[in-house]
Amino acid sequence: MKTLYRRVLQPVLFKCNPETMHDLFVVIGEFAGKYAPLRALVSALYEYRGKDISKTVDGITYRTPVLLSAGFDNNGRLTRILRHMSFGGEEIGSVTARPCEGNLPPRLTRLIRNKSLIVYKGLRNDGVDALIGRLRRTPRTPSYVLGISIARTNTKEVNATVEAGIEDYAEAFRKLNESGMGDYYTVNISCPNSFGGETFADPKLFPRLMAELAKSEWLKPVYIKMPINAPWEDFAKLLDTADKHGVEGVIIGNLNKNYADLDHPEDAPKEFRGGLSGKPCFKLSNELIRRTRLAYGKRFTIIGVGGILTPEDAMEKFRAGADLVQMITGMIMGHPGLMKEICEKYAEVYGGRS
Ligand SMILES: Cc1cc2nc3c(=O)[nH]c(=O)nc-3n(C[C@H](O)[C@H](O)[C@H](O)COP(=O)(O)O)c2cc1C
Repeated sequence: MKTLYRRVLQPVLFKCNPETMHDLFVVIGEFAGKYAPLRALVSALYEYRGKDISKTVDGITYRTPVLLSAGFDNNGRLTRILRHMSFGGEEIGSVTARPCEGNLPPRLTRLIRNKSLIVYKGLRNDGVDALIGRLRRTPRTPSYVLGISIARTNTKEVNATVEAGIEDYAEAFRKLNESGMGDYYTVNISCPNSFGGETFADPKLFPRLMAELAKSEWLKPVYIKMPINAPWEDFAKLLDTADKHGVEGVIIGNLNKNYADLDHPEDAPKEFRGGLSGKPCFKLSNELIRRTRLAYGKRFTIIGVGGILTPEDAMEKFRAGADLVQMITGMIMGHPGLMKEICEKYAEVYGGRS
């Protein structure tokens, strides 16, 4: 099945526009999630059924420690199918207070021999109200965790001032808390593709955002999606602020802005056209996971993400100190059975309870 997919289907899919392919996958995945026979078919092909590898983190039990990272299921349409592809949960979003068209195309570019995507989506999503409505109407999949990531609406008005940006985050956060939807919330401060840049990844401005968010009652664990190009001094300052505000964990991390980290930088445009996912994120994120674990011990839950392309890559993230892992690009550049293979490897390495 894997060979057939990689030799026959994937080369055809890679000839099509990447954003169209992504949209098509979401339509098919949402459709398949609605019907039990289709869910059973996907499950028969791709669902992990080995030893118990469930893990409880911040009071939330994950059936498998492998999650879909933010940005693939922006609008929460795939919540009924992904469990059957061995994901223990997903991070929906990033969602914003207002609906947002995102940037002008091309919003997604494949760099195949670099095992990377250039992501220029610019937080394209239907907005938090639509997401809450959709999640209310959709039956919950048992043993499948839903995190929800929030970001600042990517429009010129909202990005005009720091105050407007803070109020925008706070509105989305408040609405989610009030709705009770989702199992954990992530504050994404590190999207490299929006008008205003990563305002709140600035250690001087991040405390202002957190002080405002602290005014809402937090009923779920809160995580911060961290930048991976920040120098350690700045990164540690962000962690100190997160610590001060009782944030449970950090997701390390977001896209890589440095095109020189590609194996073949000549494949990328000269001008910055979005952050890089996949392989160019792997070492940077592992290093930051390691340093965070070393410097802060068990203070933070760490979700490791960036460049997991093989089961061994996922093990490297766990060895570096991650409690859970997230991924997107490996599934696209690899094959849809990769998550199951990661779970099997995890059971082999970490035992699992049979
Ligand atoms: C198409 C796409 C869209 C993304 N959008 C978001 C987003 O909205 N919010 C976010 O926090 N990260 C976003 N990311 C970053 C991913 O969540 C992840 O941090 C990054 O891709 C590295 O993981 P990977 O190498 O497994 O893809 C996006 C990534 C991709 C590929």
